[in-house]
Amino acid sequence: MHRILEFYSGIGGMHYAFQLSNNPGEILAAFDINTTANSVYKHNLEKDKRKSIVQQSLPISYYDSFNANMWLMSPPCQPYTRMGLHQGSSDLRAKSFLYLIDMLSKMSFPPTYILIENVKGFEDSDTRNTLVTQLKNCNYNFQEFFITPLQLGIPNSRLRYYILRSNDIINILNNKDSDSLLSNLNTIPISDFLQDDVNHEKYSIPNKTLIKYGKLFDIVKPSSHRSCCFTKGYHHYVEATGSILQLGEDLDSDQIFNSATISEQNIDLISRLKLRYFTEREVASIMGFPKDFSFPDELTLKQRYRVLGNSINVKVVAELIKYLLLD
Ligand SMILES: C[S@@+](CC[C@H](N)C(=O)[O-])C[C@H]1O[C@@H](n2cnc3c(N)ncnc32)[C@H](O)[C@@H]1O
Repeated sequence: MHRILEFYSGIGGMHYAFQLSNNPGEILAAFDINTTANSVYKHNLEKDKRKSIVQQSLPISYYDSFNANMWLMSPPCQPYTRMGLHQGSSDLRAKSFLYLIDMLSKMSFPPTYILIENVKGFEDSDTRNTLVTQLKNCNYNFQEFFITPLQLGIPNSRLRYYILRSNDIINILNNKDSDSLLSNLNTIPISDFLQDDVNHEKYSIPNKTLIKYGKLFDIVKPSSHRSCCFTKGYHHYVEATGSILQLGEDLDSDQIFNSATISEQNIDLISRLKLRYFTEREVASIMGFPKDFSFPDELTLKQRYRVLGNSINVKVVAELIKYLLLD
């Protein structure tokens, strides 16, 4: 039985990934400071267990007391993104993770297995260098990857950096340049993830948004074998936050958006495309969350998309956990 700590647990992507990996084990504690994400986690997974946050005021003995043999972690990514100004370890949001890294060499019962997920960009950061130095210092071998769900035949881009403890030190695979090159020929279509009973009004895109920003949307159809990464800004911002769905399969959206001057007068043309947002349930399915995953009723649509956008692809991480535990 594996004894697991789930750091930066969000809505429980790592927890679901461990379940999906079919290994025996228990999540002993999950740590996150976000109350919305914690409410989703509690709603689905952890009805009565303690929730704590990663903070430096918790002593090493606290973490040692779990005697956990596995740490699953997806620390905040903002320090390693352009939006977060690439501040790396000097970004305050990196501090709790640096504390955990530092703790590894001081623990009486350090974990045997470690898996960490982050954005592309982490590999060039000083935090990654600190992490790798400490892993070597503690005699862990490790392996670094870039993986996108497209490689597993899932029609969604989400290129992410992963580092996990392994038997050998293996450097970053040379696959970080383009995830389009990696798409799997057997990728399943978007239609496999769609709900039948969608309230179209709720997920419709306002005409004024279509008129002003229509050309910027990434549009996919049920027959498509790809979609863009869904981010926490989905439904709120237009560009690069995730794809929208075109149910009018026979029409060419590029032609419609490029040929016409879109205005209130000819909005009919666009309405024939039958565009809508993916529902939060559809996004969750594309990201590998199981059918029984749901949200507390009181959460707004914006909150639901936000926590999903911060999460991970469950199926990708499940495969990595299987690999992590191979030996
Ligand atoms: C990339 S998200 C993790 C997503 C998670 N794996 C999931 O499936 O939803 C990073 C998370 O770190 C949390 N976080 C940031 N600083 C933290 C801290 N000091 N202690 C605990 N959690 C923190 C954020 O609230 C956020 O949910």
